[in-house]
Amino acid sequence: MVDELFIKRRSYRKYLPKEVEEDKLNDILQAGMLAPIASGKYFNVVLKVFRGEELKTLQETLVKETGNDNTYKAPLVIGVYHKGENVELANLDAGAIIENMLLEARELGLGSVFIYSICRLTRSNEALKKYNELEGGYILRSVVSFGYVEDFNDVREIEHKFSVIK
Ligand SMILES: Cc1cc2nc3c(=O)[nH]c(=O)nc-3n(C[C@H](O)[C@H](O)[C@H](O)COP(=O)(O)O)c2cc1C
Repeated sequence: MVDELFIKRRSYRKYLPKEVEEDKLNDILQAGMLAPIASGKYFNVVLKVFRGEELKTLQETLVKETGNDNTYKAPLVIGVYHKGENVELANLDAGAIIENMLLEARELGLGSVFIYSICRLTRSNEALKKYNELEGGYILRSVVSFGYVEDFNDVREIEHKFSVIK
């Protein structure tokens, strides 16, 4: 049931050292592409997959520069890059894309985390700057880590509650 999937989607920050299969990665990418995008400008977005040696280099650079691997040692990371001039819309597009991918990942038995902190670092840190922009003027808007998790109960205590005005 859809409701159950929403409840099951949490941020998982401890991953097993196990690769995510290609078909699952493709399903996650497809879920991202089915997100609503402002004015239907899907051509403004690039989903950049980081894994293997390329991801290892990113993670090592993060540790070297900040003392922290903000990807939580994930075996798979996806960067959402956007070339729209309206930053507000670019960020909203990224949020919609990422939420679809988070939910799809959980449906596939994977954990994930929506990670903004890397994005900020790629703007301010010289060694990480190369991750801020892709050829063609696509700018990093946010990042998601994915992977298998040992314990789906290992999540931060948090109340999912907004104020609501009816
Ligand atoms: C826009 C946005 C940025 C986030 N950035 C980070 C981040 O940089 N690092 C992190 O560990 N979690 C990050 N999160 C995850 C939130 O901390 C998490 O979703 C929230 O505390 C609710 O917990 P839950 O995902 O387990 O439901 C981010 C979430 C959102 C929506």
